Amino acid sequence: MTTGGSPLEQASLYLGGVYAPVMDEVTATDLTVIGEIPRDLNGMFVQNGANPRFHPNAGHSWFDGDGMVHGVQIDDGKPVFRSRWIKTEGLAEDIAAGHATYVGSLAKPGAGKRHKNVANTDLVYHSGRLLALWWEGGDPHELSLPDLQTRGTFTYNNTLKGGLTSHAKIDPKTEELFFISWSPRPPFLHVGVASNAGQITRHTPIDLPGPRVQHDMAISDRFICVFDFPLMMDFKRPGQDTLGFVLNDEAPARIGLVDRHDLDAPVRWFEASPCFMWHLSSAWDEGDEFVLVGARIAGATRVDKRGQVHADLPLVDGEHRFDSHPYMWRLNLRTGAVVERQIDDAFVEFPRVNDANIASGARYSYMAQIKTDEPTLMANGLLKYDLVSGARDRLAFPDHHVGYEACFVPRDGGSGEDDGYVVGFVTNRTDMASEFWITPSRALADGPVARIRLPQKVPPKFHGRWLPASVLS
Ligand SMILES: [Fe+2]
Repeated sequence: MTTGGSPLEQASLYLGGVYAPVMDEVTATDLTVIGEIPRDLNGMFVQNGANPRFHPNAGHSWFDGDGMVHGVQIDDGKPVFRSRWIKTEGLAEDIAAGHATYVGSLAKPGAGKRHKNVANTDLVYHSGRLLALWWEGGDPHELSLPDLQTRGTFTYNNTLKGGLTSHAKIDPKTEELFFISWSPRPPFLHVGVASNAGQITRHTPIDLPGPRVQHDMAISDRFICVFDFPLMMDFKRPGQDTLGFVLNDEAPARIGLVDRHDLDAPVRWFEASPCFMWHLSSAWDEGDEFVLVGARIAGATRVDKRGQVHADLPLVDGEHRFDSHPYMWRLNLRTGAVVERQIDDAFVEFPRVNDANIASGARYSYMAQIKTDEPTLMANGLLKYDLVSGARDRLAFPDHHVGYEACFVPRDGGSGEDDGYVVGFVTNRTDMASEFWITPSRALADGPVARIRLPQKVPPKFHGRWLPASVLS
């Protein structure tokens, strides 16, 4: 690393404070609730994240920690809290050795064993299973419900070849799972589709000019949306770590649309202004247009923990905050034109929508509002954007509190896209006490109607999901 501070100090950003891992698997039923849990909210929130079991070896980044799932189950007003390691092969190797046996993604090539599938990034419920996914791509790990015990990997009855990445999307109409897998070697990108019956039904290579960092994807009723962002992978760069991220901010971002229904149709590429993006909100078809909303990283803002900008660094390397704004692209399928605009000047991350609308036009998008005076992603509020009216609501977290990705949950018997609750973990960084907040989506600014005090700190998480009560039995 070329930023200030020793490698240990760099790594400690994600080993201390609120990020410090927790070692115990907890099940707790006797929980204090401030307020009242709504009776029309029944099911379970599960969220994945990094929680290194052993002190890491060289090159540790936030992305490298072993997966741990935290869950809050609610049944008729009664909550149950659980935390469980995801018991991957790599974690078993470490436990057998009594120490970390892999190096981190920021280690230099040749420093040691890499690419441990920590299954720490995302969770989807598909094919009757809760699956933990890893952002670099690998076989999903199946977790039991409601107890969240690791059952092993699930490879869609041996039809999944080459794994899949986090941010797979489920079409609520067809119940298919859409996913990408990527590689530093050709072919650099595939899109895939899995049926809810547990079979891979499509695995199509996407022609890219070289290896690109991939993270998220989108679906509409007509298209699978993929990217050729100018965040390259260059392993020959002097001093490069094993992630190899290099931003070419003079190259355009290309947005590719893969026809869902015509397997022979060529990918349609649209050029947009240079950027990278970790996370999309949603996409939809609208007349001649494909519309995409996400948290766009405009430029190479590289801020270290002292607030210094290091223009020579890769844009994204797991160590640094990245500054992204809510953003909309409209791709005209008839003319090829791209119209893009920033929705707001707030810094945001972890955009989510009502998953029932993920492919067909979500009006409301929920995004964590990121503080700009911290070296890592710390949310001090949650923003709800009305993409039709332009209105913005805000749920504020108290001083010294940090919130994580939130999830929209339709309430039982509700109607309308935003008739429900926004739920998620919030941690007080003063005493490291974590809570689970339940806030009505239509009255976000009024704050939570229930705060469930948790018996264990929940370190900052990546991605999660609400599971309705029907899938828990
Ligand atoms: Fe992600």
